[in-house]
This record gives sequence, C-alpha cells and structure tokens, in this order.
Amino acid sequence: MIVTIDGPAGAGKSSIAHQVASQLAFEFLDTGALYRAATLAAIRAKLDLENADGLAEFVGSLELSWQDRSVRLGDEDVSELIRTPEVTKSIRFLADVPAVRAQLSQIQRDIAAGRDIVTEGRDQGAEVFPHAECKVFLTASPLERAKRRMRQLADSGRYVSLEDVLSAQNQRDLEDRMRDVGRLRAAEDAVVVNTDGMSPEEVLQQIVSLVRSRI
Ligand code: C5P
Repeated sequence: MIVTIDGPAGAGKSSIAHQVASQLAFEFLDTGALYRAATLAAIRAKLDLENADGLAEFVGSLELSWQDRSVRLGDEDVSELIRTPEVTKSIRFLADVPAVRAQLSQIQRDIAAGRDIVTEGRDQGAEVFPHAECKVFLTASPLERAKRRMRQLADSGRYVSLEDVLSAQNQRDLEDRMRDVGRLRAAEDAVVVNTDGMSPEEVLQQIVSLVRSRI
C-alpha cells in the first residue's frame, strides 16, 4: 500500500509522515532528501547549475540510494549534510529539470515497489504515484508554517526573524508551485488536511485513521 503526503515547505510533512509510517509499521521515504542529495553532489562536483542537460546526465551517473530512513551517495550517509541553506537554495536548479525529475521519480518508484510505504514530497500523489491507495495534502497558513519553522530553527540554536523565515518560505512556495513539471499541487483524489490550530497528535491520528479506512 502506498500513502502519499504532499504539501508546502513547513507544513510538518516530514515529522508527520515519519510518525504515520512508524505507527502503521510502514516504510518511510523522504523524497525531498533525494533532491537534496543530488543537489549536494552537483555542488560538490562544481557543476554549472544552469546547464540542464549536464545536470540530467550527472544525476544519471549518481549512486543515490535510500536505506534505513537515510539518504546515501555511494557509501556515504549524507542525511545531515543535505540540510544546509546552500543546498536548499540550489535545489530548484535540479528540481526544475524534467529529465532530472524523471530519474528521481523512477528511483522513488523502485524504492516503493512491493512495499507498504509512506512517501513524502511535493508531487507524490499527483505525479509519481497516481494510483496510491491513500493521498494526503498537508497544508497550513503561511504564517503558521513560518512560526513553526522559526521555532524549529531556534530549537537547533539558529535564531532567525519571522520576517526572514516568511520571505524565504514565500520564495520556495512560489518556486515549488510554478514549476512546469512536478509542481506542488494536491492530487484530485487527495484529502486536504489544513493543520492550522491542530496539535501534531491530532494531525497524526486523523491521517492514521484515514489510512486504516483504506486498508
Ligand atoms: O521536502 P524538502 O523541503 O526537503 O524538499 C526540498 C526541495 O526539493 C523542495 O523545496 C522542492 O523544491 C524539491 N522537491 C521536489 N519534489 C519532491 C520533493 C522535493 O521538487 N518530491
């Protein structure tokens, strides 16, 4: 069974998807981590990020894998290294290239094949897994998402103003929504969950109940 959880940055997809997977004893796949790892590799290789054909060829040569909820380049676990602002701001160069998306989407389908899995990203329900049994679109107002993100950063010792978080978030939202292929959108048959005013526990239980009703 495939459960897709899509939504904008800061909607809380990652932590919810993790917990839904754990509660149901499903596997979990963070597809943003694959985009991040490919971006990290391209930065390290000093590629011209404006060269779409070069990026597509490069991604085809990568040994990109997902094991035990962590992303690897060859034997190297890069799960931490992919969370830098430098990687975040360069992802769009790869994520905008249809030939890169096609390759990363295929990797995602290979990972999910034959498994019970919760996949999390932007295009999972609408494009990568159109036949998924359960699709969720998780969202929240921009202000609520920015506040959560600010608290998350503060917890890890980085203090950023709400204004700065909001403006970076608006920029990412725009990039994610305007992309020609793989843009952020709810699949027609997705259940939209707006988490404004809901506790994480309430969101978790709503999604777990939804998935159970489809098993
Ligand atoms: O989920 P996360 O914020 O780590 O994703 C990083 C970026 O990767 C997103 O802003 C988006 O541009 C891209 N992405 C994507 N398709 C996905 C997952 C992530 O284009 N399925």
